[in-house]
Amino acid sequence: MARTVGIGITGGIASYKIADLVSRLKKEDLEVIVIMTESATKFITPLTFKTLSGREVATDLWSDSLEWKVQHIGIAEQLDLLVIAPATANFIGKMAHGIADDLLSTVVLANTAPVLVVPAMNTNMYQNQIVQENIQRLKDINYKVMEPDSGLLACGVTGEGRLPAVDDIYQVIMNILNPQHDLKGKKIMVNAGTTCEDIDPVRFIANRASGKMGFCIAQNAARRGAEVILVCGNSSAEVPPGVKVIPVWSAEEMCQVMLEHQDSCDAIIGAAAVGDFKLADTKEQKLKKADNREDKLLLELVGTPDILQELGKRKKPSQITVGFAAETENVLENAKKKLSSKNLDFIVANDVTKEGAGFGTDTNIVTFINRSGDIVSLPKMSKDEVAARILDQVIELMNRLQ
Ligand code: PMT
Repeated sequence: MARTVGIGITGGIASYKIADLVSRLKKEDLEVIVIMTESATKFITPLTFKTLSGREVATDLWSDSLEWKVQHIGIAEQLDLLVIAPATANFIGKMAHGIADDLLSTVVLANTAPVLVVPAMNTNMYQNQIVQENIQRLKDINYKVMEPDSGLLACGVTGEGRLPAVDDIYQVIMNILNPQHDLKGKKIMVNAGTTCEDIDPVRFIANRASGKMGFCIAQNAARRGAEVILVCGNSSAEVPPGVKVIPVWSAEEMCQVMLEHQDSCDAIIGAAAVGDFKLADTKEQKLKKADNREDKLLLELVGTPDILQELGKRKKPSQITVGFAAETENVLENAKKKLSSKNLDFIVANDVTKEGAGFGTDTNIVTFINRSGDIVSLPKMSKDEVAARILDQVIELMNRLQ
């Protein structure tokens, strides 16, 4: 079930930066409820956040709503995390002393989820003893408070008080939401999408892979603390945040990039649909349309490198390699052959003819087969869940190797 993050925006100039944060959180498949104080709405309009979060922005404790409870208690009840960013000196003071005189401060009091406070203000205000004591009070009741950055502030002063980089706030949020950090210290390379082989300067051979499966694996691994390299062919899915993306075009290019990075990786997962054929001779000029429907165009195709097989030849004993098998018949039999010919630790077989499995879907139906011949078939689940199960297996294998 999607988790819900409340983003409470108070009246500081840095509030415009929170638009980027909301947009990034939405890409994580989180529900985002934006609550703005009246002062915040003077800096940036609720419409911006309504558009980015895909839902009404809550601004008014007294709004004439039939569902009045939703306006404060109701919001608080839905939250898995409440973030106050930017948090002004005034709002920090209110939180520290239990003052609840507007919608956001009432939500803070009614909330039982973890709270992350991201102060941003003028340096002297930040260093003021009263503000520091208020921050300490918040820390004492287990609110997580981020340190502001130093630099040139909007008020012209240089010093402490700048909103930390959105990247850093995002990372802290993801860490709070995903305390499972079982891949910390590990480096994982994933490939995704379809490779493309040029026919001529405007046409190419590709396949139906959207990149979703590989992106979910990359995103899950990053959430679980891994350093992730995503080697990405053509794809229609949105690139996940927090991973290093290396875009590639052809199977040969993908192979070269993956071989270059192989040695530094603890695990490699091949979810890309790599084209098995390329043109023997790519045409330098655009092929002309046939004048006659009876005319035939014959193209000579030759094989591309088998990337996982190449990686399998050079694999270190401590490295885990995982492949997929996209099958339309004899699923288990074909998958077992690929497991052995590519020297994989396990293979994820998907029968791509099944509804809800394979190319372009948000779900998949997979079977894991390992070297000992153990077979685990999973029911239809989201690609995100499949990704989590694959990583659980990878971790189990890593632990066995230790
Ligand atoms: O991207 P989506 O739309 O989410 O779709 C997901 C998927 C269907 C693409 C994915 O679940 C999947 O099955 N990926 C593997 C597709 C594939 O190429 O399967 P294969 O059975 O032809 O290849 C077996 C394995 O060898 C794969 O891990 C493949 O990446 C790898 N391979 C294949 C050919 C080649 N030349 N080099 C390779 O490394």
